[in-house]
Amino acid sequence: MTNPADLEPIPVPRLERDGVVLRAHTIDDADEVTRRGADPLVQRWTTTPANYTRDMALEFVTRMTGPSRDAIWWAIEVDGRMAGSIDLTTWGRGFSYGAASVGFALSPWARGRGVMTRAVAAAVEYGFDSLGLDTIIWEAYAGNVGSWRAAWGNGFHEFTYISSLLVGKDRLEDAWHAVLRADEPREPQGDWHLAIENSTTPRHQRGL
Ligand SMILES: CC(C)(COP(=O)(O)OP(=O)(O)OC[C@H]1O[C@@H](n2cnc3c(N)ncnc32)[C@H](O)[C@@H]1OP(=O)(O)O)[C@@H](O)C(=O)NCCC(=O)NCCS
Repeated sequence: MTNPADLEPIPVPRLERDGVVLRAHTIDDADEVTRRGADPLVQRWTTTPANYTRDMALEFVTRMTGPSRDAIWWAIEVDGRMAGSIDLTTWGRGFSYGAASVGFALSPWARGRGVMTRAVAAAVEYGFDSLGLDTIIWEAYAGNVGSWRAAWGNGFHEFTYISSLLVGKDRLEDAWHAVLRADEPREPQGDWHLAIENSTTPRHQRGL
């Protein structure tokens, strides 16, 4: 396994998928990230603090999302406007485990027209074809159907419910977990509605 000390930060590559551009964050993205931080769905489904400030957004678009050996953070751009963020993150030894986790959030104005499904497709393709990953995992707080749909739309499968898996703001959150491997089809597997209904998710957390 690669010595972590030998790993170099990975420059954030520019990608494009059907009108959705993935690129490095810039300081000009701070206002959009500040507005996104106040959105109720972002507050409900991510660890974004309730009092999210412009200074926090500035920290995010400069230091947190810059080139790293353990993560690639892209800004998502639609119609020339910054619309969200997506990342492939690994666990402390660069990408040498051959695996990463995908995470994302979109501004409210850009939702509901397939933007995140396309952004996930671009990030996943880069992970498998350029980083040489074997496996990408997706995890969300249980009940986050919008996030499930963006993962399901790219072939993520083996959807599993796991109690108290993810760190929340003030407690551990029950979670959904799914996986996509490099040699598997990157298109929906089965019906998303049935996949949720047939998962082990307790009825009250299915989000339907
Ligand atoms: C989850 C999120 C990224 C989805 O982004 P999006 O660009 O709207 O997603 P898409 O349009 O690609 O969604 C794919 C499909 O799911 C549908 N969908 C989106 N949100 C949905 C919801 N809450 N419930 C049911 N279906 C939903 C879309 O209509 C689309 O359906 P279609 O393929 O039949 O047209 C966005 O809602 C968001 O940023 N939410 C808040 C932050 C968050 O939850 N991040 C993920 C944390 S794990």
